[in-house]
Amino acid sequence: MEVLGLLTRYKFDKNLVYEDIISKLKIGTNIILLEDFPLSDYDFQSFINHIGTSVFENKNNDRHDIYDVKISKQNDLFRSIANSNLSFPLHTDCADFDVIPNCIGLLCVEPAIQKQGNSTFMALNDLLKQLSKKQIHELVEKKWRYRNQSRGILTIDSGKYKLCYDRITIESFSKTTDKEKEQLSRLDSLFKKNSLELKLKKGELILFRNDLMLHGRTEIDINSNRLFKRIRFNIN
Ligand SMILES: [Fe+2]
Repeated sequence: MEVLGLLTRYKFDKNLVYEDIISKLKIGTNIILLEDFPLSDYDFQSFINHIGTSVFENKNNDRHDIYDVKISKQNDLFRSIANSNLSFPLHTDCADFDVIPNCIGLLCVEPAIQKQGNSTFMALNDLLKQLSKKQIHELVEKKWRYRNQSRGILTIDSGKYKLCYDRITIESFSKTTDKEKEQLSRLDSLFKKNSLELKLKKGELILFRNDLMLHGRTEIDINSNRLFKRIRFNIN
């Protein structure tokens, strides 16, 4: 195991202790990176089954809980935003779900070339250090709409802060005022300032908390064959 800032690296081999991974995920401050992970769906799913409970992805029901994040078009349109080449600003996945999965696993099967398609992260811990008591209070109090849900960017759960933010969803389902737009833009730049960028290699699997960290990615060339496999899951 090697710890470098937000990143904790392991080799995926027979010496890997699953309990270590689970306890690191429970603490939730770090991104866990496993090197030399096999590229098959079977291995990915069985690994996640060992550490948590995966969430069914109905977009991809033939393959159960695994979703292929790659550029894919149908009639000249991207199948979904996840299948586009666009950059994604820092966000929480499934912000509009009744219950938001607390973990995400991303397996790099084919990286994008050069500096494209890099993964970005921002840890709640780092954000909290930058905020005054008043700002924290405002982020807890002000609610944003995610389809049928109304949520604060910060919530307190059993005495601990949790994070939920997805500007694209907020702006797709409700009209925001100019003042709110400004507020969101200020937040976006604060998040970006505290973020780190990571280039995953083929066979690297990252695991991270969806409720204690925001994630995003940089733009990809439209013809790229970048392929990441994703499983969203819960640990207790
Ligand atoms: Fe995402």
